[in-house]
Amino acid sequence: MINMIKYVQNKNIVNVSNEIDVINLEFFSNGTIRIFKEKNSTKLYELSFPKKFLKFNVSENSNEITIEYLNYRFIINDKLEIKVENSKDIILNIDFSTKFCDVEKRNYYSTTLNINEDSYVFGLGDKMGFLDKKGYYYESHSTDDPTHQDEAYPALYKSISYILFETNKHYFSIFFPSTFRYTFDVCKTNLDKVIINNFDSSNDLFLFLGNDPKEVTRRYSDLVGHPYFISLKTLGYHQSRWSYENEEMVMDVYNKFKEYNLPLDYIHLDIHYMDGYRDFTVDKNRFPDIKNLTDLLKKDNVGIIAINDAAIKVDENFDIYRYIVDNKLVGTLKNKPYVNVVWPGDSVFPSYIDPKCREYFENKANEFIKETGISGIWNDMNEPASFKGELPNNVIFKNGNRKITHAEIHNIYAEHMVKCFTNVFKKDNLRPFNFSRAGFATTSKYAFCWNGDNFSLWHHLRYSITQSLSLSLSNFIYNGDDIGGFGGDSNKELLLRWLEANLFLPFLRNHSTLNSKHQEPYAFDEYTIKTYKKFLDIRYKFIPYLYDLAYRMNKFGELISRPLFYNYPFDKECLKINDQYMVGDNLLVAPIIDKSMTTRAVYLPEGYWINYFTNEEFKGNQYIICSANLDESIYFIKKDSIIVNYENLLHINKLDITELVIHLYGDNGEYINYEDDGETLNYQKDEYNLYKIKFNKNKFSLITVHQKYASNYKTIKIIKDGKAKIIPFDYKVNINLEDL
Ligand code: GLC
Repeated sequence: MINMIKYVQNKNIVNVSNEIDVINLEFFSNGTIRIFKEKNSTKLYELSFPKKFLKFNVSENSNEITIEYLNYRFIINDKLEIKVENSKDIILNIDFSTKFCDVEKRNYYSTTLNINEDSYVFGLGDKMGFLDKKGYYYESHSTDDPTHQDEAYPALYKSISYILFETNKHYFSIFFPSTFRYTFDVCKTNLDKVIINNFDSSNDLFLFLGNDPKEVTRRYSDLVGHPYFISLKTLGYHQSRWSYENEEMVMDVYNKFKEYNLPLDYIHLDIHYMDGYRDFTVDKNRFPDIKNLTDLLKKDNVGIIAINDAAIKVDENFDIYRYIVDNKLVGTLKNKPYVNVVWPGDSVFPSYIDPKCREYFENKANEFIKETGISGIWNDMNEPASFKGELPNNVIFKNGNRKITHAEIHNIYAEHMVKCFTNVFKKDNLRPFNFSRAGFATTSKYAFCWNGDNFSLWHHLRYSITQSLSLSLSNFIYNGDDIGGFGGDSNKELLLRWLEANLFLPFLRNHSTLNSKHQEPYAFDEYTIKTYKKFLDIRYKFIPYLYDLAYRMNKFGELISRPLFYNYPFDKECLKINDQYMVGDNLLVAPIIDKSMTTRAVYLPEGYWINYFTNEEFKGNQYIICSANLDESIYFIKKDSIIVNYENLLHINKLDITELVIHLYGDNGEYINYEDDGETLNYQKDEYNLYKIKFNKNKFSLITVHQKYASNYKTIKIIKDGKAKIIPFDYKVNINLEDL
């Protein structure tokens, strides 16, 4: 049968129909296109739409509609299949359909993306496994799966339905916006098809076009919102365990780090600090005067972070329970508070979706922070986790008078929980310290994340890199792993290799489970302490470099730690690499991640690369063999670049940092360095500096291109070819490097 196809253009939307169906293509200013069936079927959540763009041409011929947009063509045939091609190649074919599910006895909405079999498929948040997701089945449905051991596990804590494609040197990406569960068959059933199904929201997607992964990922980040700007101190080292369960244990961690001169910025308190796992309470037997403890540690620039779980203990004498039940601010089933089991035993699930509920928890957190002096909130069990099976889909959460099913808000439950706490910090003009286990595509505006309960297993070390990079590509740019592994017992070699491998991931925390072998750096031997210190010292050197990237993450949606292809998109080799990463443009990390190994192949992209430890120079575009004993690792600096450092830090307190160290690698380079007070929101009032640093042969200059912050730097140390010179700090510097 021939379907007659026609179109109607209404401003930036082209509505194309045949005799049975209709699709809409909405073109925005910047390479972002929304393709959907029914405008209001998917409830869009927290998106910032780009400016409209009206310049595109629509034409009709041979029963096909062609839309020319930027340098792409969208060709829609009589079956309403959409072919997307650029001047050279077809990059994608999109086919929407509605099918009947025999098991559930209802329709579901299916989107088939036909791609070239040689394409790479990246993204999808925190799924385990390799960067390229092809060959497996995944779901966007937040779960607390304590056994998530490999790439075959469909779902983990975060639900991020974002896929980045590389096909024949073209990049594009797609975001599926519904908060309901999606399934993804990523070239598993058909080698050239990604099939995405959803029962509850009709077909709807955002397509991002651009020249390279940086551009398309930024467009996605613009739509869902850039991650929030963390404080400088957050970049420091975090020591955690389930649990440092009393004051003595916390003091022991603090004292040992001091004794061994190990850098430390935060100690994390797991659930034992609470009174019977009740949120916002303190067990007075374990922590008789927690304020005194936090004050004492703060004097030495060490903060305490406290865990906070999503569900609330059922206990008539517990004020939070009483309040949320009395005020109908909990999930209900058949009009009764819905109860499931989490750490405190029977628990109810607050309706964080309701602003009244959020206000209540915000006030609670505010009081709690003032009373205890803790420096940040660690949000956990917010998928929401429940030990007696998942919450039924028909549990109702109310937002005012609107009743919302669990099925709809499951994937954004965590986001609403973490939203309660951002203002607590902002009221004091501070950047939030708020991190979460679960989340949706839009959550990083409110909280950064850690990657959940991994195991002390070598393949989990390997996947810590890919999981972190996939999350970064998916807009959870500020993330990190439990170093040493959470479940099971770690060991000296695994712990050290883990630290070396994760050293430049944004969030650096060692955490382990209850009753496991201790895995603090001093839990093994002198060699471990010495090596751990050597690497933490390197991390602390790179704090200003990482902070520049954190600034760029917030400002431009750029990645901090990146897959190699993000920086070298047209080098085919970079697409395959899972065990190396780049930090910004100039640092390449190629750690040893296999047991007993001290040698590995390292791929160096184009240009020249300088071994960070030996200063040896290597030509790129090739694999080289590198060795590293257990107390060594493999890091390269791109030749002709500038790296900013701080030196001799054990804790991060911006006011104590008075010297900026500038390393010059090669013969010339240019770099923008950012500085502000490191902790307040004053940067939003423009109170920051941008230094443009340049060198060319012997000429060095620093020019302040944005100067609104009174810097506390007193000196600048310039290092080149092993020689160093310290000069007084100034907002404008010009020197001859021959004087070094
Ligand atoms: C969850 C968290 C883990 C924490 C534990 C106890 O498993 O993911 O980090 O230690 O709960 O609170």
